[in-house]
This record gives sequence, structure tokens and C-alpha cells, in this order.
Amino acid sequence: MTLYRQAATLSSLFLWASISFAQSKQPVSPFAYQSVKDQVCNKAAVVSAHPLASAAGLSVLQQGGNAVDAAIATQWALAVVFPVAGNIGGGGFMVAHLANGNTLAIDYREMAPAAATENMYIDPKTGKANTRLSQTGHLAAGVPGTPAGLFACHKYAKLPMAKLLAPAIALAQKGFTITEREASGLNGSKAAFEKSNTTLPVFVRNDRPWQAGDTLIQTDLANTLKRISAQGAKGFYQGETARLLVNEMERGAGIITLADLKNYKVKTRTATTFNYKGHQIISMPPPSSGGILLQQMLGMLENRPLPQYGYGTVKSVQLITEVERRAYADRAEHLGDPDFYPVPIKQLVSPTYLAQRMANYDSTTAGKSSNIAAGLPAESSQTTHLSVVDAQGNAVSVTTTLNGSYGCKTVVAGAGFLLNNEMDDFSVQPGVANMYGALGGKANAIAPGKRMLSSMTPTIVLKNNKPFMVVGTPGGTTIITSVLQSIVNVIDFGLSAHHAVNKPKFHHQWQPDEILVEKAFPQNLRAQLTAMGYTLKEVNAIGRTELILVMPNGKLDAVADGRGDDSVAGY
Ligand code: DON
Repeated sequence: MTLYRQAATLSSLFLWASISFAQSKQPVSPFAYQSVKDQVCNKAAVVSAHPLASAAGLSVLQQGGNAVDAAIATQWALAVVFPVAGNIGGGGFMVAHLANGNTLAIDYREMAPAAATENMYIDPKTGKANTRLSQTGHLAAGVPGTPAGLFACHKYAKLPMAKLLAPAIALAQKGFTITEREASGLNGSKAAFEKSNTTLPVFVRNDRPWQAGDTLIQTDLANTLKRISAQGAKGFYQGETARLLVNEMERGAGIITLADLKNYKVKTRTATTFNYKGHQIISMPPPSSGGILLQQMLGMLENRPLPQYGYGTVKSVQLITEVERRAYADRAEHLGDPDFYPVPIKQLVSPTYLAQRMANYDSTTAGKSSNIAAGLPAESSQTTHLSVVDAQGNAVSVTTTLNGSYGCKTVVAGAGFLLNNEMDDFSVQPGVANMYGALGGKANAIAPGKRMLSSMTPTIVLKNNKPFMVVGTPGGTTIITSVLQSIVNVIDFGLSAHHAVNKPKFHHQWQPDEILVEKAFPQNLRAQLTAMGYTLKEVNAIGRTELILVMPNGKLDAVADGRGDDSVAGY
């Protein structure tokens, strides 16, 4: 557990009492707070990437809000206290299972601006894609979806939006102390902020590097949030905020226009739902690849002896790796925005097809991605997750993103929010990998108004029609394999919620043909996999999973990933 205390001079600012833990009735001060990693809650839990955002969610539950209220308040707060990924200038997905039995899948993914073209990142002279432009600066930004998305979700909430925005506005206006991780993130992006902005944002300090415990005040962002509070989604997509955004685009050779902002549309999707070993899985459909890949991978695992192989054995790691390889080969070829491309969903998830995909699986040796193409004929670091369960049994799973850390690094001057670099999630050119190494083609080519393919996999698992698990994570393409492993860790291997989240994870995505493993991934397993012919690559951390498990006695085992500042708040 980490505890960051502000210098005594700031203790007079301990005024902000609207956020309090129900258990202790102690206010959580924005200037002295700590991460709670594991908490068994009697009734309700919010797990998110930041203690102050989870506390904002809890505070609205205490005011009579439901899990949707809490998810909305937590997201507004994340846009302030977790600028690396929390956002109003990005997009996301909400999956929910309401106590009345309804299932929701709300898509507020960014859209390509009207002036976007299939070849917009390809240099006409060299014919090569310039991924610097799809990843950094104004041209990398898609039309933000988060504010419209939160208003669309609000239909299912109970409290007025102004109440859900209040904690975020207070945090932006009065400030909060930043964690060591945030300080190091801001310091690490200083040069990129300087390069990508015409007006230096508050995230750049020139006197000395940021340190844990420094106060971050975001006045421009507070004013933008107040406009949203007063005017609704129009406070973002029209009027002053829209003008500031378009002025920013004009200064930085970006292409988002007032019409793009006005035309942004949230889409209500039909959730991807399927059964796995007596559980019902509910996840995000296209334009996320998450739900479909999860269904493919669990479908390929279902009739194999995964539980007998056991957690953390070479046999189970190898089987999961081979399943991941096959699903990701399909992702590259077939997945994209279903409003623009006929994604062959039925075929991709059919049991006959999945059995065929595994026909050449060999449990004694490493498969080769060069031998695994997409299975059907071709038809032509930042994100953040939050999980909420309330006392009425509503469950909400939200993943939201700016894509890379601090998005495209451009802050809308005068409006104080970072823009996403989600355009890089399109396939900018066939054969050219995006920042997560993912390949794509026609299905995910750029077109005006199209949504870029996502890996975000907000997921809810039901047992006997009641929420059993609420789970999700950031991590680019590793999201889907992390969610898969969290699910099989619980259902097949019987791991506790804590271990399901915190035990080392691994990832294979077809191309590049290698298994990514976390630092703590055991050496003996690495040796055995290498001996079978696999190439392994060590990475720092895979995902930051937020998991709530409903225990047989009805209590909630809420776990915030140990890999970040993530934190539980509940009662
Ligand atoms: O939508 C996607 O798949 C990506 N934009 C997610 C990026 C992400 O998870 C970065 N986090 N570490």
C-alpha cells in the first residue's frame, strides 16, 4: 500500500468532504489518500485505476446512486486524477447487466473525422505509412466519444448528472496530489507534450520534475466540466468547448471540425453473449474485437482438459497460447467496425469452425504463426478499466481509453483536456503494425465516420443469471488475453480473485510470433516453453485488471491490480 501525504501547509485544504468511505465514514482527502488493493465488501464495490476516482464512485452510491451512476462519476473523476488514460477526449465501452435482467453494450468509441481517408498516413513520395502522425499530435485524434457516451449511459442512472460531475469538478478546481507513478508518467512525456502543443499545458512544469505529493490543479478542465454540467453533452460538442477544440485543430494541422463534433453518435450495440461451463459471459461486440475473440478462445478451450492441466503448468500455458494465436490471426483479417465492414461474426464463433481451427494443434510442440492464416476466406500505454457492483445487483464494466499514454499528447488549449491518438488503432496500411504490434487490412481500414477496431473487453460473467464476475483491463492487444486468463484462472483453475488478477500473465497475438511474459513468469516454465520451440519476450506488466467476484455468501471480493495505483472503494 502506498500513502502520499501532502505538506502540512496544504492541510487547510482538507475541505472536500463529499467523498467518504462508508465503512470508516472518514473523508478521503485528495491530498492524503491510499490505494486499497483487496477488500471484501458487504454490498457494493467500485474498482478503478485511482483511489480518488473509486472514492468518487462510492460517494454517489452513498447518495442513492446505482452502479451506473458510480461508473459515470468514476469516469469523470478519472479524466481529472488519471490524465494518462482517464479522459473526456477519448472513448470507451460500457457493458452492464442490470438487476432487472437487461444487458447493455454502449459504444462510445471515437469516430474518424469526415476528412479522414484510407491513405491519410501514407507518405505519397515514399508510399510508406508515417505512424508518428497516427500516434502523436493533432492528426492522431479521432472525434471523442466519452462525454456523449456518459450522457447515453445516464439514461440508466438515478442521480442528476451535475451530482456525478461534482467530484471531478472539485478535483480539477481545487487540485489533488499526484502519485509517484503519475509524476513519472508526466516527466517521461514532457518532451512529447512540448512537441505536440502550441500552448504549454499544466502537465509541463519547468522549474523541476514532478514528484509524488505535488498538487495538480486543472482550472481549464474544471471550466470545461462545468460547461458540460450546465449544458449537457452540448457543453462539449458545441459552443465554447467545441470552438476551443477546433481552434486547437487549426493551429496544429488537425482535421476535426465543428460538424464532426456535432455529428458524433453513440451506438447502442447488442452485447456478445455466450455460455462457458455453466456461466454466461457478456462482453463487448464489434467495433471491439474483445467479445468475439473471448468467445473464440473460450470456445476452443471448452472441450480440452484445461482444469486437469492446472494453473501455471507448461501444458495449460501452451494450450492457451495456441488458442490465442488462432484467434488473433482472425482479428487481423476479419474484425472492424460492423457499420462499415461485414464482420463474419456467426462463422467466426461457430463450434464447427473453432474445432477446425484447432485441428492442427499439437500439444508437444510450438505452433508457427507463419502456418496459421486467418481461418475464413477473406471478404475482401493508455486505457483504463473500472468495475462496479451495487447493492441492488446491478453490475457495470467499463473500459475507456486515450489509446497511448496521454493520448496524442495534445491538450486542447483553454479547455484543458488531452486528445486521444485512437486513429492508430485503424490499420494505417496493410502489413504496418499499430503501436501494439497488431496488423490489419480492409476490415479495419480508415474511412470517414468509421470506428477503429478496439481490443477493449469490458466483461461480466453471470452464474444462475446473477453477476458472478465483473472484469476488464487496459493493455492494448493484451487486453483480451488478460481477460481470458482472469476468467479461466477463476473458472477452470479455481484461483482466488486476488491471484486471478495478480499472478503473472502471458500473451500471444499471432504476430509477432512470440509469447510476452511478465517479469514474475516462472523461469522453469520459460525453459520448458523455449525447449518446445517458443520464443519468449519479457515485458514489464500485462494489464491492470479490476475484478469483482461475487462470493457464494453474496459478499463482493473486490481486487484492484497490484501493477498500478488501482484501488477499491466499497461498503
Ligand atoms: O482500443 C484499444 O484496443 C486500444 N486503444 C487500447 C489501448 C490500451 O489499452 C492502452 N493501455 N495500456
